[in-house]
Amino acid sequence: MIQSTILRFDSIDSTNLEAIRQARACAPEGLCVVAREQTAGRGRLDRSWHSPKDAGLYLSIVLRPSLAKESWPLLPLMTGLAVGNALSKSCGLRTDIKWPNDILADGRKLCGILAETTETNNGLAAVVGIGINLAREAVPPELSDTATSIESVTGAKPDLEVVLAELLKAFAERYENLQSKDGCEHLIREWCANSSYAYDRRVRVSLQSDSFTGVTRGLESDGALRVETDEGRIRIVRAGDVTALRAQNDGSIHAE
Ligand code: BTN
Repeated sequence: MIQSTILRFDSIDSTNLEAIRQARACAPEGLCVVAREQTAGRGRLDRSWHSPKDAGLYLSIVLRPSLAKESWPLLPLMTGLAVGNALSKSCGLRTDIKWPNDILADGRKLCGILAETTETNNGLAAVVGIGINLAREAVPPELSDTATSIESVTGAKPDLEVVLAELLKAFAERYENLQSKDGCEHLIREWCANSSYAYDRRVRVSLQSDSFTGVTRGLESDGALRVETDEGRIRIVRAGDVTALRAQNDGSIHAE
């Protein structure tokens, strides 16, 4: 099982960038970079991640997975499940996962995950970054309709060290399981069992240059989302944003 050595910073540009630098400098698998604040926190799809001091848990883990390259996209899905386990144990929270790996509480985003890869002298490495909103200040005012924090949901800001310890434990267990025999198939089944977005959810999918609506129909073996379009065609989504839609009594459809 991976042993996490923790490298701590008061302030850093981005824990993902630091983990990539460390991986290139031959850091072993399991190295975990944690920062109290990020000055250039990065999100999916080239977005930024608001990271004020001591308001969130900002961490990144260096991995050198023994997995076929086609299965590497399962790493962030696996991480989403580990975050769910950790938040349940440390804060008693029940969470949902919106594809691909937004962790939601009461329908709002509580945690984001960003996986990146980098070439190193020891081969290709992956870096998985996790940002969890612990305190209210972690959520910028303009996102208050769609994002939340543990403090807002439970009424108390959790102890960062307790959440971190549970997260590293759940992560190590799930990472080992993923690399074992039938680990990938098992992960897909578990992800589907833990996400209300896996099946029969009416969604809008926003891609770089187009968007469409449809109903979710489970995951491909590499974690891509299957969506049946309104025209009855199955589209496989590997990048993009998914928004849940709900039908109104008048037949019109609105974002949830
Ligand atoms: C998303 O867009 O939902 C992914 C957000 C990932 C944020 C985390 S915070 C720790 C790590 N370092 C970064 O720069 N990003 C990730």
